Amino acid sequence: MTKPSGATKTFSLADQRPGPVAQFFVTLLVRKLIPFVFGVLRRFAPVFRFPFTNTVIVTSFDYVQEVFARQKDFPVPYQKQVDLLDWKPTFLLAMKDTPAYWETLEQVKKLWCASDLDFVRQIARDVSEAELKKADGRIDAIQDLMVPVTEAVIERYYGVPIPEDAKQPFFDGCMHVAGFLFGSQTLTPKSTKSAQRAISVVWQVIDDAIDAARKNPLPENTIIGRCHALKVTDDAHLRSYLMGMIMGYLPTNTLANGHAFDVILSSADAYRIGCAAAEREDHDMMLRVVREALRISYILPGLWRTTPEAQDLGIGSTKTYKIEKGRLVYISGMSAMKDPRRIEDPDRFDPDRSPDVYMVYGHGFHYCVGAAIADVMMEEIFTALLRREPRAVGKMVFNGNFPWNLNITYRNL
Ligand code: HEM
Repeated sequence: MTKPSGATKTFSLADQRPGPVAQFFVTLLVRKLIPFVFGVLRRFAPVFRFPFTNTVIVTSFDYVQEVFARQKDFPVPYQKQVDLLDWKPTFLLAMKDTPAYWETLEQVKKLWCASDLDFVRQIARDVSEAELKKADGRIDAIQDLMVPVTEAVIERYYGVPIPEDAKQPFFDGCMHVAGFLFGSQTLTPKSTKSAQRAISVVWQVIDDAIDAARKNPLPENTIIGRCHALKVTDDAHLRSYLMGMIMGYLPTNTLANGHAFDVILSSADAYRIGCAAAEREDHDMMLRVVREALRISYILPGLWRTTPEAQDLGIGSTKTYKIEKGRLVYISGMSAMKDPRRIEDPDRFDPDRSPDVYMVYGHGFHYCVGAAIADVMMEEIFTALLRREPRAVGKMVFNGNFPWNLNITYRNL
C-alpha cells in the first residue's frame, strides 16, 4: 500500500489505549454505571434533559421506538462529521429522509444483494473453521477469529484486499472513526484531526482496490466487480458506499460478536441452548441465542438524533414530553430492550421472545442495511465456536469501550 498523501504517522489505537486504571473506570462506566443510571431514568424519567446540557436522554421502549419512527422530526446529526472526513457524496446513516436517501438505498441494494448471503455464509464458515483448526484448542476469539472473518468478507466479497502491513491500521482506523461518528457529538480540533488521520488509511485501501479493479476487472460476485460490470454507479459513489458498508460493519460486528459471546459464555442457559443449536446446526435457534445475548448486553448505550424544530414526544400516550428545538436526543436501545413495561422478566435469558422486543439493528427508517449479512456471519461463527464447547480463560478485555480480547480453550474436532 502506498502511504496516504499528507499523512504524518499511521494511526494506531495502541497509542490511544487507556492505561489499566483509566480502563478500569471506562469499563465500570460502560458496563455498570450507565446501565444502572439509564435503568433509574427509564423508571422515573424516561425522557430526561441532562441539567446544564443540550442533551435529552430517552430510555423507555415506547419513547425510543417513537423517536426512531419519526425520522422527519428527529433526524440524525452525523453529517457534520462526514463533512470533516471529506466523505463525499454522503452515505445513508448521515442522510435525512429525502429522495437522495432512497436513491442511495436502491443502489446499495443493487450491489449488496440478498442472493449473496450464501457466499458470505461460506466465507464465514471457511474462515471460522480454518482459524479454529489452526489455533489448536486455544484462541483469542475476538482478534484471531471474529476479526479475520470480518476482514475476509471485506476482501473476498467486497473485493477490497487489505494489504498485510495495513491490516492493523485499517482495523484501528475503522474502530476509531466509528467512535468519532457515533460517540460524543462534541467535536474538538484534536478529535477531528485524529479521526482524519484514522480514516486516511481506510480511504487509501478502498481507492487502491477500485484502481486495481479498473485495471484487472474483478468477478461479478464481488461488490466492486459487480458495480463495474453492471455500471451501477460511478467510482466516486462506489467509494462512498464501500466506506459506509465498512464503517457500518467492521466496528459493529466486532462489538456485537464480543458482547454476544461474553453473555453466552457466562450464562448457563445461553451456553446450553447455544451448544445444542450448534450440534444440530440449527441456524434459526443460533440466531435467537445471539440476538437474545445482544439484548442482554448491547453493543452501545445509545444512538443520536436531533430536533431541528420543537417536538412533543409521546403522541397518543398518557404522558407527553416537550423537547425544545435544537436539542441532541440520545435514544438508548440498550435501555429500551430491558424495559419491563414491554419485556417480561428482562434480565432472564430467553431466546423464544417475540421478534418485536428487539432493536438490535435499530428500528424503522435507518434500520441496518447489513442486518442479514451480520446474521449469517454470526450464525456461522457461533456454530463453529459452540460445536467445540468453548471455555473462557479469564474475562473479556476491553480497549476503551471496545471488546478487544476474549481468550478461550475449546475441544479440537
Ligand atoms: C451485529 C452487527 C450489527 C449491528 C448490531 C448493527 C446495528 C445497526 C444499527 C442499530 C443501525 C441503526 C442506526 C440508527 O438508527 O442510528 C444500523 C444501521 C446501519 N448499519 Fe448496521 N449493524 C450491524 C452490522 C452491519 C453490517 C454487517 C453492515 C454492512 C454490511 C451494516 C451497515 C449499516 C448501515 C449502512 C446502516 C445505516 C442504514 C441507514 O441509514 O439506512 N451494519 N446498524
